[in-house]
Amino acid sequence: MYRIAVIPGDGTGPEVVNEGLKVLGAAAKKFSFKYESKIFDFGGERYLKSGKTLEDGDIAALKEYSAIYLGAIGHPDVKPGILETGILLKLRFSLDQYINLRPVKLYNQDFCPLKDKLPEDIDFVVVRENSEGLYKGMGEFQNKGTAQEVATQISYNTRKGVERCLRYAFDYCRKRNKRKKLTLCGKTNVLTFAWDLWERTFNEVAKEYPDITTDYAHVDATTMWFVKNPEWFDVIVTDNMFGDIITDLGAMIQGGMGIAAGGNINPKGVSMFEPIGGSAPKYTGKNVINPLAAICAAGMMLENLGEEKSGKAIESAVIKIVSRDLKSLAAGKMGYSTKQIGDLVVKNL
Ligand code: IPM
Ligand code: MN
Repeated sequence: MYRIAVIPGDGTGPEVVNEGLKVLGAAAKKFSFKYESKIFDFGGERYLKSGKTLEDGDIAALKEYSAIYLGAIGHPDVKPGILETGILLKLRFSLDQYINLRPVKLYNQDFCPLKDKLPEDIDFVVVRENSEGLYKGMGEFQNKGTAQEVATQISYNTRKGVERCLRYAFDYCRKRNKRKKLTLCGKTNVLTFAWDLWERTFNEVAKEYPDITTDYAHVDATTMWFVKNPEWFDVIVTDNMFGDIITDLGAMIQGGMGIAAGGNINPKGVSMFEPIGGSAPKYTGKNVINPLAAICAAGMMLENLGEEKSGKAIESAVIKIVSRDLKSLAAGKMGYSTKQIGDLVVKNL
C-alpha cells in the first residue's frame, strides 16, 4: 500500500494534478497495486491567508509518505522568492532530495522547434544536483543600499554532495542501458574551485564504471549542442544552477513545458515528482492547460516506487496520444481540454 502525499499547490497545479490522479487510479486498477492519497494545501493561497509556508511539523508529516506528488508552487500576489524558498526548495532540502532527474524525450517530431530532429535524436536525461551549489543560499550584502554595495552569492559544493550525485548519475546511466555515455556539464575554464572538485571526483568515480563512456562539456557549449546535436547526449550530470537552466532548454526541444516532468529524488527517503513548468496563472481554472507533464510525473513516481510496468504503460499511453491525437502541446491549442487529455490517457492505458 503506497501512501501518496499530494500537494496540488497554485495556479494550474490543482487541474493538472487531478488528471495525474485520474491516471494513477486507472494504473492502480490495471496493475493491481494499492495506494491511498492525502491532499496538503501548501502554496500561495495558504500563505496569503496564514503567513505560513512550511512548518517543521509539515515536513515531519510528509516523511511518513511513500512519495510526494506536486502540482506547482508560485502565486502572482506573493513576492517572488518567498514560496520558492519557503516551500519548494525547503521540501527538496529538508527531505534531502539530492537528485533532480529530468528526462528530455521528444515524442512527436511535429512538436519540436528544431529542424529535422526526430524522436530518436532527442532522448537524454539530465541528472541535476539538487541540494547544493548556488541554491544553498550562502552569501551576503555589504554596504547594502550604498554606492559601494557588494552582493556575494556562493556556490557551495561538498565532496560528499558531489560524489553522491555523480554516483547516482553513473548508476542511472548503467541502468538506463542505452548509449552508456555520461557527460559532465560544467565550467572548468572559469569556475576553477567548484568545477575542479566536480571534475576530479567525476574522473575518480568513472574508474569504477569502465562500461560507461565519459565526456565533458562546458555549460555554454552544452546549450549550443542541445540545439545543434542533441543526439550526442545520453545522460548529463551537472550542478544545481546549470541543471536548472539547461533543463528549461531541454523542455523546449522535447516539445515544451506541457510535457516536461521531473523527479526530486532521495534514493533512500521520500521523493517528490512534479511537472517542471510553473503555476501558469493566466491559464488557471480554464481547463486548457496541458496535464501531460503532470501525468508523466505520476509515471515517474510509479517507476520510482518500483511499479515499473505501470510507469512504462503510462509513458506508452502518453506517446500514443502525443503522436496521434494532439494538435499541439501548448495550453489552449491541443485540440482537447485538460480533462479530455486525462481521459484519453486513461483510455489508452
Ligand atoms: C525548477 C524551478 C525552481 C528552481 C524554482 C521555482 C525555485 O525553476 O524546478 O526548475 O529554480 O529549481
Ligand atoms: Mn527551473
